[in-house]
Amino acid sequence: MKNNIYIETYGCQMNVADTELVMGILNNKGYDITKDIKSANVILLNTCSIRENAEQRIYGRLGNLKKIKEHKSDTVIGILGCMAERVRKDLIEEKKMVDLVVGPDEYRRLPEFIDTALAGDKGIGVKLSRTETYDDIIPFREDGLSAWISVMRGCDKFCTFCVVPFTRGRERSRSLDSIVNEVKILSQRGFREVSLLGQNVNSYCDDKYDFADLLESSALVDPSVRIRFTTSHPQDLSDKLLYTIAEHKNLCSYIHLPVQSGSNRILELMNRTYTIEHYLNLIEKARKIIDSVTFSTDIIAGFPSETFEDHLMTLDVMQQVKYDGAYMFKYSAREGTKAYKMEDDVSEETKTKRLNEIIDLQQSISYNLNQQLIGKSEEVLVEGFSKKSDEFMAGRTDNNKVVIFPNDGIVKKGDYVKLNIDRATSATLFGKQAEIVLPYDIKTPELV
Ligand code: SAH
Ligand code: SF4
Ligand code: F3S
Repeated sequence: MKNNIYIETYGCQMNVADTELVMGILNNKGYDITKDIKSANVILLNTCSIRENAEQRIYGRLGNLKKIKEHKSDTVIGILGCMAERVRKDLIEEKKMVDLVVGPDEYRRLPEFIDTALAGDKGIGVKLSRTETYDDIIPFREDGLSAWISVMRGCDKFCTFCVVPFTRGRERSRSLDSIVNEVKILSQRGFREVSLLGQNVNSYCDDKYDFADLLESSALVDPSVRIRFTTSHPQDLSDKLLYTIAEHKNLCSYIHLPVQSGSNRILELMNRTYTIEHYLNLIEKARKIIDSVTFSTDIIAGFPSETFEDHLMTLDVMQQVKYDGAYMFKYSAREGTKAYKMEDDVSEETKTKRLNEIIDLQQSISYNLNQQLIGKSEEVLVEGFSKKSDEFMAGRTDNNKVVIFPNDGIVKKGDYVKLNIDRATSATLFGKQAEIVLPYDIKTPELV
């Protein structure tokens, strides 16, 4: 019987990219990938550990999958990703919920582990590596407009609240040449947007090349392919990087720059390695160098010992920066991290209250920023029909904002169009089409 593998992906974009990598590895070995869970004899969950509720979700899903196993006892159920590193003992030995546990640095050997599990033993591969970057493996990607490329793995920052350094291991970068080559292949396949990924993408380092060099080389591949990147750490956002973004039109002027908290005392306890003054200076500098640059952020509410004053400082920073968008979370204590040893002393009720205030403020900031765009013209990459109706199309601006506009039957997915913005909510812009700037069916320029 041919093996039919089904994969579900949870967590961040790194996991989305890793699933494509895993599919590439399995395809090369002749395994079939299926989108239909019923026809699968191997079911894999690519998991996330970042907060307690992320792990709870997976335990819930494993509970459902047990029912499949009751009907088809030879089905292999496996855990990939960050939870493989954190809770392997619990999953395999104590709860006996899975047959296979393979962490982020052991995917090369996944086919071997799957065979072990199919033969009735436990397939376990959880070693972290200092060197594995999967540089030579081309991920399996369906055709489309947007693709993700992992350019580095792991993290050396050790923020005190975060499990990533423990689940993903030490920081290491792929080679610039192989990444640029991947951008070329994607451009030739008709992709129009590439996002370069890493937990600290701006500390990318390949020998003599830094992240600014990588961005520049990627931008030069094809001017009709937009290059995005995430996540940037405030410690490593160099002037050279800012000037590089300013110089190339297809490098998006949108920086995801997590601040986490507005209080220097909390930032120090978090081991974020910057002060709010440094952070705000950085934002100001970026605004001077890059025309109409925008920012998004991550914020944690209720870190151990956070006072009401600390919380107000976070709200204040949000007011000062005016982020386009934010990912906002309640602090979740994670075993094994430094913060786990601090008393989780902000009550659940206070965490919720502070988080809601943060969310409300962000919503009003986003709304006001979007209102200011009414009457302006924005260049948009068309992604297809809008979710609600084929009578409308949806696209994204350089700053990653979604714009909805009427479908005239001519404009199509992959075109770049200019739109006049005439209405806005906090999450979406609405516009009318002014002109097609770059149609999708033109031949892409000669590759460099
Ligand atoms: N490498 C990125 C993001 C990593 S995880 C960075 O450094 O910014 C994404 C976000 O999850 C973090 O920015 C943080 O805001 C949040 N996060 C991480 N650990 C958390 C925890 N224990 N509780 C709540 N939020 C957390
Ligand atoms: Fe986690 Fe901090 Fe590393 Fe981001 S920089 S992945 S928050 S340890
Ligand atoms: Fe989650 Fe791991 Fe990403 S913990 S956020 S899947 S790096």
